[in-house]
Amino acid sequence: MSGGVSASNIGFSLTMIFPRFNAFLVAACFAILRGVSFGSDAGVTTGTAATAPYLNPGQPIEARVEDLLSRMTIEEKIAIIHGNSKFTTAGVARLGIPVRWMSDGPHGVREDIGPDTWKPAGHTNDFATAMPAGICLAATWDPALGNAEGAVIGQEARARGKDIMLGPGVNILRTPLCGRNFEYLGEDPYLTSQMAVGYIRGEQSQGVSSCVKHFALNNQEYDRNKIDVEADERALREIYLPAFKAAVQEGGVWCVMAAYNKFRGEFCSENSYLLENILKGEWGFKGLVVSDWSAAHDTMGCAENGLDLEMGSNGPYDQFYFAQPYLDAIKAGTLPMAGLDDKVRRNLRVMFATGVFDGDRNVGSLNTGEHEAVARKVAEDGIVLLKNDGDLLPLDAGKVTTIAVIGENATRLQSHGGESSAIKAFYEVMPLEGIVKRAGGLVNVIYSEGYSHHSTPDMADRAVAAAKSADVVIYVGGLNHDKGFDCEGDDRKDMKLPYGQDDLIQRIIAANPKTVVVMEGTMVDMGAWVHKATAILQAWYPGMEGGNALAEVLFGDVNPSGKLPCTFPKRLEDTPAAAFGPEAYPWVSGTVSYKEGLLVGYRWYDTKKIEPQFPFGYGLSYTRFKYTNIKVVASADWPAEREIGHVQFDVTNIGPRAGAEVAQLYVHESDPGLPRPEKELKGFKKVFVKPGETQTVSIPLPEATFAYYDPGQKSWVGHKGTFEIMVGGSSRDLPLNGEFTVPTTFYP
Ligand code: BGC
Repeated sequence: MSGGVSASNIGFSLTMIFPRFNAFLVAACFAILRGVSFGSDAGVTTGTAATAPYLNPGQPIEARVEDLLSRMTIEEKIAIIHGNSKFTTAGVARLGIPVRWMSDGPHGVREDIGPDTWKPAGHTNDFATAMPAGICLAATWDPALGNAEGAVIGQEARARGKDIMLGPGVNILRTPLCGRNFEYLGEDPYLTSQMAVGYIRGEQSQGVSSCVKHFALNNQEYDRNKIDVEADERALREIYLPAFKAAVQEGGVWCVMAAYNKFRGEFCSENSYLLENILKGEWGFKGLVVSDWSAAHDTMGCAENGLDLEMGSNGPYDQFYFAQPYLDAIKAGTLPMAGLDDKVRRNLRVMFATGVFDGDRNVGSLNTGEHEAVARKVAEDGIVLLKNDGDLLPLDAGKVTTIAVIGENATRLQSHGGESSAIKAFYEVMPLEGIVKRAGGLVNVIYSEGYSHHSTPDMADRAVAAAKSADVVIYVGGLNHDKGFDCEGDDRKDMKLPYGQDDLIQRIIAANPKTVVVMEGTMVDMGAWVHKATAILQAWYPGMEGGNALAEVLFGDVNPSGKLPCTFPKRLEDTPAAAFGPEAYPWVSGTVSYKEGLLVGYRWYDTKKIEPQFPFGYGLSYTRFKYTNIKVVASADWPAEREIGHVQFDVTNIGPRAGAEVAQLYVHESDPGLPRPEKELKGFKKVFVKPGETQTVSIPLPEATFAYYDPGQKSWVGHKGTFEIMVGGSSRDLPLNGEFTVPTTFYP
């Protein structure tokens, strides 16, 4: 039942794979069709025309915004631009403006908080479907699954009465140590953009606003509240901003969260270069900018530099920077009414876009069979097979008598951890449970914890004895969401496996070479045992259906098709942020300098010729794929059409099983005007191929494929010249090569 789903055919493929998708997708498509975008004149034409124009869904959004704005007093305007509890803003009953509810994000709808503390509200109706973490979603390399995950969360948000969901998180993985890498979408700006756009479209199709975060350069948790980030203009434009830009321009996101940190000396919540010049100016963003929770520091600074909504600050709500102090400043004439009106317009626009005034708003649904199916599918497709010597996997349940499952993560709940992205899951199938269910009654499954956060020596001894007694061992370890690991608020200290796992894994492999090592969490240093292990699976945080998905991969019901969305380096010292000393990470005197510039992730390892443990884009399958027949075709319609050409090639399944392959396209500019990384991902497609079958894949080459940002010209430039096109199954396995000549310099 394995299968890839391409961006273009989600409805078709998912309904074929899961018949129950039908109703879900029809509803989602309906929502997309009736969906609205800013500046659109097309309103909803059904419904009763109300007396006031803003209450009439038949009116264009802008007309409704202006009408409502004109009816509001200054106090009412002020009321809707700051929080009045941890996750709400006040309504204006006189005008029918409802209380607005926000929630984390990004792996499902968080349990209800507060209202006035960070403690759980203690509700009994705030469970949610726990979707796989962002890094697992990214490992599917399937924007259609991003769309599906976003749509599930959007539906549940509506069922839980939320208006704005605080996700997706699209900060680029700059250092393996960042405590929130698990929430994000990997190290590459193109992959991150594609996945985020899918997610946002899916979520917003349900009548809830996404809130892409954290804008921008929030690439470490360590000292996140005040760290000042220095990054050059090219790194900013080419690495750290593209996913935000795509979220705005392609995803049509309605809300952007300003990050805690500073950029070039200014807090992101009052950074006019980021918020005014780039986001609202260059990109034309018409939605609202919300502060991260307590990231606002000053009334004037935030009011004049692009913040539209203040949330999470300390102190009484009416003393927030955007509450009484703002009102006083307006009355004293130190802040203009026009500035306040712009903020109110942006807030109202998002309310109208999400239908808060309209009677036919989506009521959503919670934890349906379809939601569980999406959670499972994302996990199945996001698990990455890193090693499989001698085809140890898949396991044959008919031939195995005893399986020893070892490791704390086999029985550890993960979805409820990590801080703001935590979910109060309806349930979570843990690996041991999934394996027991799948192995069936004829297989003896024994469990030995082996290690835990309170390891004792005899624990390891017992696990080794269990390993010896079994035909096959499935070790489930890695990281967890405890503070200091994959958890918001701090970074890891190193890339080492905790709790003595390096030793334990080696002892287990020595006791039983038929050991499958399953790693949960983000990347770790595997140096101590990677060459000894026969099979390795990277399972990330696979959500509440994760145990089932893992078992399906282990037993071959699902042919793994995940690919790494981030390089797994051999050791921390190899990583770009570590190569330049403490100035580049974590900081010196409060400033972190992104000295590696553009060379983030594989751009660094490839350009500097450093051998990674497992490269970006890498992932094995139970079958094999062959790439042939590359054709690089220039478009006759360029520059009238923005597509400058396309690349076509064949992918053949030459192995025994059906499976999905992520075909990846990278470019290298032969003689660039400014230095460029060795290669850059510019396209990919996940294709499902049956044994013996060949699929012809076509990947477009839009202008952006060739362009880089030229700070001298303050513009993206595509230079006339020759580009090498490389195609294959990972960033370091690119069997097809072609050439493309850009005939004339252009400015996309
Ligand atoms: C996090 C955000 C989150 C917010 C609200 C902050 O600490 O950085 O990602 O959305 O809290 O919980």
